[in-house]
Amino acid sequence: MHRREFLAAGLATLVSSKALAQMKMDGMSNMDSMPGMDMGDHAGHDMGAMSKGAVTLPEGEALRELSLLANEAGQTGLFKARLTAAPATMRFAEGKDTPILAYNGTSPGPLIQAFEGDRVEITFTNRIEGEASTIHWHGMPVPADQDGNPMDPVAAGADRVYAFELPEGSAGSYWYHPHPHGKTAEQVYRGLAGAFVVKAKADPVPAEYGDTVLVFTDLRLAADGSLPDNNMTDLMNGRVGDHVLVNGQKNPRLSVGMGAKRRFRLYNATNARFLRLTFDGAAMTIIGTDGGLLAAPVAANEILLSPAERLELIVSFEKSGPITLYTLDYDRGWMGAGRPADAGLTLLTVDVSDNPAEPVPPLPERLRPIAPFGAPSVSRRLVFTETMTMTATDMQMGFLINGKAFDMNRVDIVAKAGQTELWEVVNQADMDHPFHVHGTQFQVVEYERNGKVSKPAYLAWKDTINVARGETVRLLLRQERPGQRMYHCHILEHEQLGMMGIVDVQA
Ligand code: C2O
Ligand code: CU
Ligand code: CU
Repeated sequence: MHRREFLAAGLATLVSSKALAQMKMDGMSNMDSMPGMDMGDHAGHDMGAMSKGAVTLPEGEALRELSLLANEAGQTGLFKARLTAAPATMRFAEGKDTPILAYNGTSPGPLIQAFEGDRVEITFTNRIEGEASTIHWHGMPVPADQDGNPMDPVAAGADRVYAFELPEGSAGSYWYHPHPHGKTAEQVYRGLAGAFVVKAKADPVPAEYGDTVLVFTDLRLAADGSLPDNNMTDLMNGRVGDHVLVNGQKNPRLSVGMGAKRRFRLYNATNARFLRLTFDGAAMTIIGTDGGLLAAPVAANEILLSPAERLELIVSFEKSGPITLYTLDYDRGWMGAGRPADAGLTLLTVDVSDNPAEPVPPLPERLRPIAPFGAPSVSRRLVFTETMTMTATDMQMGFLINGKAFDMNRVDIVAKAGQTELWEVVNQADMDHPFHVHGTQFQVVEYERNGKVSKPAYLAWKDTINVARGETVRLLLRQERPGQRMYHCHILEHEQLGMMGIVDVQA
């Protein structure tokens, strides 16, 4: 038997049937990186070569604006549109067709832009062959039965309407993606994710700064241009690709005049890549997080966007020449060998001309009030662990919350609508896990690591927060509406392998 086949066959007996169902043996690579298994140096080289991107992508094209989802309502106060998830073909690399999944033919999906106070009615059609899907409105205050939970699948070939109101004060940088049971990770890395920006009626940020959405995705292409299936390394660490794309492009370019200020909304729509970012030669000011503007702008030298997080930035271009947005090293805890390079990836290049930009108004010192939560009436503790059990015939990986893997038929927490709760999220695992709750925005109040307690740098509305390995994050939250809500790690492979629970909010 060829060694590669031998390794694959040997591994088959070691992997749990659950994990096996999620991958094709012929697509496997990086098997050398399984902890506890010594496959020898030889195998390591062979398998490593299989996965390393021989495919190059064109760089330096002008940044494309995301296409805007057209509002078909023709009346103010209503946003009415259609989103269809279906197979499509993209050309990322020259001469290679890549079969993907797309919303309305594009990936990232069309940008949805609506206003506070609007009613939204979106008809979703699932044209993904043989797979259920949903649309989850990540971070948005929508009723539980409109939130695209795994409990409400839309069968292949079917459609449904999602309808909800955007309350006053809900302006923010949300997104949408599928959330079907067991298929979320795959449908997202195949291309299904888009940005949903809720605009404020009165926006304190000068309109002259523009408003540019940058959606980061993480592409892995096989030599033939196809998207490889998830392998063992992906199931453990989450799928990290070979190319971080911005609005579907690799290192696109943008031109601005000297002295320009630009507003950017940064979205980490990758399955599992942590993005520690900085601009080389331009000053960053954080003005908003997942759930909208901060109370006041905060200058930043670098930012960390864990999977599913968003940030709003003002970037001041005071120096001419090409300025790059690039990644810094970030160790998020990697299991096994083959940790991908984190540092030095150029995501975007901004050409700042010598010609001065039109003068623009300054950023206001106050953006909007953020009221801190009062004292909680309940506190809860959620402990993240990873387990790996090896028997003679099987290996089981588990990503657990309070010792349990997700069960769609089990309620993990019963809460009361309108009640403030303290959630203490404890990461006792070896990897960072970005924690996300549906249906509301929370406020982080405290971090604790090695017995040292610290406060967040600013008060902010968040729906996803990284909980570093060994860290405890305390947050305050309140669910305003009844219904079942998910909470989970937003490394989507971890969510799929069990790191998710259900909170049942009662009226
Ligand atoms: Cu981005 Cu459960 O969601
Ligand atoms: Cu969500
Ligand atoms: Cu995780």
